[in-house]
Amino acid sequence: MNMKAKRINRLSPSILAADFNILGEQIAKVAEAGAEFLHFDVMDGVFVPSISFGMPVLKSIRSKTDLFLDVHLMVTEPIRYIKEFADSGADLITVHYEACKDVKATLKAIHDAGKKAGLSIKPATPVSVIEEFLGDVDLVLIMSVEPGFGGQKFLPDALSRISETRALFEKTGKSPLLEVDGGITLQNVAEVLAAGADTIVAGSAVFRGDIIKQVKDFEKILKKRA
Ligand code: DX5
Ligand code: ZN
Repeated sequence: MNMKAKRINRLSPSILAADFNILGEQIAKVAEAGAEFLHFDVMDGVFVPSISFGMPVLKSIRSKTDLFLDVHLMVTEPIRYIKEFADSGADLITVHYEACKDVKATLKAIHDAGKKAGLSIKPATPVSVIEEFLGDVDLVLIMSVEPGFGGQKFLPDALSRISETRALFEKTGKSPLLEVDGGITLQNVAEVLAAGADTIVAGSAVFRGDIIKQVKDFEKILKKRA
């Protein structure tokens, strides 16, 4: 992609904040409101303290939606599960730098499974660690909260980390998507975009309250800032 090309921004609503009793209905609303991605947070109780959901839930969602399924694995040694998540319908699989013994092999396993590959770093991990992997990823995910729970407050340090990541893309001539996850709201999303993000994860700010209205309100800001 030409670096001067107009950036396209997108929202990836995180179902971690959904009402699982009516998950299908809520996903349909997100799609109806114009979202194209859906963010799927997998937690293993080891890499992060909590446990969320896994392959059977993903498979069930895949059977009913055309949304781009953006799977965020907060899992130790995720290479063990790449094939299963790919077969369950993920379009993109993001793994954590901190969770992999061999990051390159893990990213390769994702591509070998025919899926797009993402690499994420936690708030305390230096942005510079991603440089050597920029040729191997389709997306970089900068965490703006400590991974593990929805509904946390955005860490303001994330803004300079996003700019640093964008500068690294420019320096190396690489242009994966730049996703940011955690504590993003309608009030702070403009700053996150201005810092250089193009893919915005939002859980509570989409699923708590009027889902259709909130997705549309996000989309308006995302388009304006493109
Ligand atoms: C946190 C998860 C996030 C979470 C974001 O570990 O990776 O995707 O769902 O939720 P909010 O938008 O509520 O911070
Ligand atoms: Zn996530």
